[in-house]
Amino acid sequence: MDLKVKAGDILKDKSDAAVLTAFEGEAMSGILKDADKALGGVISDGVKSGEFTGKPGEMLLLHTAKELKGGPARLLVVGLGKKDKLKADSLMRASGTAARKLRKLGCKEVVFSVDESAGLTITRSAMHWAQGALLGLYTYDTFKAVDKDKKEIKKLTLMVADRSALKGAEEGAKTGRLISESVCYARDMINAPANEMTPTIMAERAKRAAKDVGLRYKSLEASDCRKLGMGSFLAVAAGSVQPPKLITLEYSGGKRGEKPVVLVGKAITFDSGGISIKPVSGMEKMKYDMSGGAAVIGVMRAAAALKLPVNLVGLVPASENLPSGSAYKPGDVVRAMNGKTIEIISTDAEGRMVLADALCYSERYKPRAIIDIATLTGGCVVALGDQAIGLMGNDSALNSAILDAGSKTFERAWELPMWDEFLEPMKGDVSDLRNAAGREAQTITAGKFLEEFVPKGVAWAHLDIAGVAWEEKGMAYIPKGARGTGVRLLLEYLMAGA
Ligand code: BES
Ligand code: MN
Ligand code: ZN
Repeated sequence: MDLKVKAGDILKDKSDAAVLTAFEGEAMSGILKDADKALGGVISDGVKSGEFTGKPGEMLLLHTAKELKGGPARLLVVGLGKKDKLKADSLMRASGTAARKLRKLGCKEVVFSVDESAGLTITRSAMHWAQGALLGLYTYDTFKAVDKDKKEIKKLTLMVADRSALKGAEEGAKTGRLISESVCYARDMINAPANEMTPTIMAERAKRAAKDVGLRYKSLEASDCRKLGMGSFLAVAAGSVQPPKLITLEYSGGKRGEKPVVLVGKAITFDSGGISIKPVSGMEKMKYDMSGGAAVIGVMRAAAALKLPVNLVGLVPASENLPSGSAYKPGDVVRAMNGKTIEIISTDAEGRMVLADALCYSERYKPRAIIDIATLTGGCVVALGDQAIGLMGNDSALNSAILDAGSKTFERAWELPMWDEFLEPMKGDVSDLRNAAGREAQTITAGKFLEEFVPKGVAWAHLDIAGVAWEEKGMAYIPKGARGTGVRLLLEYLMAGA
């Protein structure tokens, strides 16, 4: 889809549809008032009848070809909700809702009115409008028969009223487009079935991203990992015929010699549970157990495309978790790269095993901060549902920066306590650690386990995205399936000058 920014009068610009917004319970103002006048008061009629109140996601559609000659053939008014409650999410929701509605109607060229909405600069506003539409229009049809009559919006124009806003809006639209493309790059990997997204294929995707935007790419093979002493990562991979990959991506946009931020993403391309096998029901979903790794690849891709002034490293330990004659078993004891031994209690607690060695490996980059992201525990789904990322860490400044980025992007995080007592259940009888304990505080005990592998003295945060990686129902800018959670959040964190 072609995304453009223009300055001018949206009511005089020829298109299949023009999108205007209204706040809940506010009198009509600006362009909406002009439109109402030009249409002989039909918008006011819709408001008076109570059909349109401006609630979030509410829409009023009018055919305007006769009244607005040479202008838009339709006018779609979208509700933004209450003005004092306006968030980035309100704009993205309005944008996604409108874009999907107009695509469904068969519109090919659409124009969205964009202005400096309450508290947001024109740049941020344009960014969110672009993101809402691009993320909302995402589809995954790689394995669907080709639809010859597929409806598609070919051109989306963001229209500002005044030329002075043009530069800011263009910048915002560009940022929004680059971020959305990387979210969708991650979504494509996550939505892909596990037979089409093995560790090897994921490494190829990372390599392609690296080539497209200019990142350094390297993949550590099983033999490399063995030499490095990654007994924990390799234990998980032992049950599969698919070779594991520790994908590494590096981006140097910051000052020479400046310590990097290291991002670590869990990439279990299929989690059957292994010998501690999962129940049949819903197991097919465990193809999305590589969502953390996909997010890291997405962030690295966007960071380079956006030329962010930071040094960044992405580490993605990728493996399948399957039962077989060579699989790791409950009771096995393995040694991670930092020398710590781990007794396997459940082979289904594999995420922390692959992350453990990747965290150890991050030490060589002398990181200034480490953030890992993983679909780690079912307990996190129980605790926070599909609304919040579980945030744990050892540094309050890093945690608050992430919480802040979360509320700005609406990829919201919620902090869980990391008291020392939560490590107790993870201590082993025959080993230093065990990989699973009881159900109590499962998300936190997993976090405490990971902390044992974080290089000494480094600020670290852990994001458990088990509950927010997959969309069951479909929302305005998050269609059913992979959400691509974490890409926008981490980019926001990095753009804030992490
Ligand atoms: N990938 C799962 C966690 C998960 C569950 C993600 C549901 C998304 C939705 C993880 O590898 C796992 O199986 N965790 C176990 C840990 C337990 C054995 C300590 C779990 O949550 O039951
Ligand atoms: Mn598992
Ligand atoms: Zn898993």
